[in-house]
This record gives sequence, structure tokens and C-alpha cells, in this order.
Amino acid sequence: MIKKGIILAGGMGTRMGPITKAVNKQLLPLHDKPLIFYPLSILMLSGIKNILIIVNKGHLNQFRKIIPEKNNLGLKIEYKEQSRPGGLPEAFIIGKKFINKDSVALILGDNFFYGQSLTNILKKNINFQKGAKIFLHPVKNPQNYGVAYVRKKKVVKLKEKPKKTNSNLAVTGLYLFDNRVMEFTKKLRPSNRGELEIIDLLNIYRKKNLLNAELIGRGGAWLDAGNIKDYYSASSFISAIENRQGFKIACPEEIALKNNWIKKDNIKKSIKFYGNCEYSKYLKTLLK
Ligand code: DAU
Repeated sequence: MIKKGIILAGGMGTRMGPITKAVNKQLLPLHDKPLIFYPLSILMLSGIKNILIIVNKGHLNQFRKIIPEKNNLGLKIEYKEQSRPGGLPEAFIIGKKFINKDSVALILGDNFFYGQSLTNILKKNINFQKGAKIFLHPVKNPQNYGVAYVRKKKVVKLKEKPKKTNSNLAVTGLYLFDNRVMEFTKKLRPSNRGELEIIDLLNIYRKKNLLNAELIGRGGAWLDAGNIKDYYSASSFISAIENRQGFKIACPEEIALKNNWIKKDNIKKSIKFYGNCEYSKYLKTLLK
């Protein structure tokens, strides 16, 4: 069972300039809460309490203000800085001490997942023992993502942002790895764009027959808030569902309470921490 998770929340957010010039993308609001609450909630829904958040240099104090190490979520939070965006697998170099001898989940700070069966999919997969696991989702514009080619339920090829492709299966930003990730990351060399590539890492697993894929089908939603258009699509999606149902998507306090990681007293502390706002009003409903 995977007990540790990394949120990769660095990057320059250049595709979202100028709004990301002064503020880290993952701290911008996605509808009614900071973007980072969404991937954080995914790790929490999977049952992961031990979390390393990697941020870019100079942004640490901003993140600490919203997710402090001493938090009311029952989480063990650690932070590390990345000096420059050197690619997703750098998470395993920066997180070496944190991961130690364990397996680890990696989630990208700008990825949004939603769907009724999602918690079940997460809980089922988090129990995995060996190899690596990726989650695929059909999209209209696969050329913007890592793409998986699947034959007879097996991933036969993986390509990062192929110009032309006959597969519509994007590799989403949630990955599960056994501890061999430490050894395999050492084998990686920077690509033409000067970064270590997650697809190269996954290909090492694939070639050794150690890669498994799970499909998040049409009933689930996956959006990456990497550019302005997708960012606002994700925001309106969340707003539409929350306004209709009256429930909040990705409320970490609610998940922590349901997981029995915290008591109602912690919720009261959170209400004090956030002050008088809509989010606190929602937290108050959890006290009933
Ligand atoms: O969103 C899923 C896609 O994420 C995958 O399909 C691709 O295979 C994968 O390479 C990645 O592609 P992107 O082009 O979307 O990655 P991007 O550079 O935008 O980084 C994604 C997140 O990770 C973003 O929130 C910033 C953070 N990041 C990125 C890099 C390269 C870091 O914190 N450090 C980094 O060095």
C-alpha cells in the first residue's frame, strides 16, 4: 500500500502569464479554492497522509500560509524547493530522503480529477505492490499531453506530446511508483527541451513489463489547468457542480473528517484560520 505522496507544484506557469508572474499557478483560485487543494484532495481520498510538496524557489512561504506544516488536516506535510523546472522526474531526486525505501504517488499540482468511481479507483490502485501505474483518460487534443498506445489492455507505446497520433488516451498527472523509481530516475538524461521526462521514466518500466494502466473512462473528468482556457473550463465545471449540489469538490477538511484523521475541533480551528468566508460557512455545515 502506498503511504507517501508528492505534489509537484513548481514550474514557472509561463503558459498562464502574466497572471503567474508574481503568484504560483497552484495558488491561484480554481473556482472557490486554491488550485493545490484539488490534487491534495486526491492524495487524501487515496488514504495518503504523508505528503511532500515541491515548490519553486522563493514561493515556499506563500504555500506555507495556506497549507502549513502544522495543519488541521491530520496531514504530515513537508516542503522542498526546486531551483528550476528540470522536469517531473526531478521530484524523485528532490524527494529522495522523503521517499526513502518506500513506494510513492506523484501528482501534478495543476491536475483536476473528478468522478463518482474515482475514490474506488484510487483506493483499489493504491494497494499496488510492484512496478508503476498510470491513469489514462480520453481527450480531444492528445497532442498536448503524454499519449499512451494501448493494445489488448497493454500499453505498447508512450510518447510525449506527439504531433500526430491515432490514440486519444492522455497520460494524466497521477502516477504510482514502487521504490525502483529511485534507481530508474538515475538513468534519465535531459531531453531536447532540457528536462528529465516522465515518459522516459515510464518507458523504462514499460520495457521491463512493469507498467500498468488504468482507464478513467467517460464517467470521470480529468482536466489540467495548464493554460488559460483549460483553467477556466475547470473552474466553471467546479462552479456548476458545487452550485447545483451544495457540496464542495476538494474540501480537504471534509475528507480528513470522513477519513477519521481529525475531530470536529480541528474544523473549528480551520474556520478560525480562514475567517469569515463562504468556505468557512461550508465548514460550519460539517459540524452538524
Ligand atoms: O497534465 C498531464 C501532463 O503533464 C502529462 O500528460 C505529460 O506527459 C507530462 O509531461 C505533463 O505535461 P505538461 O506539459 O502539462 O507539464 P508541465 O510542464 O506543464 O508541468 C505540469 C505541472 O508540474 C505544473 O503544475 C508545474 C509542475 N512542474 C513541472 C516541471 C516540468 C514542476 O513543479 N517542476 C517541473 O520541473
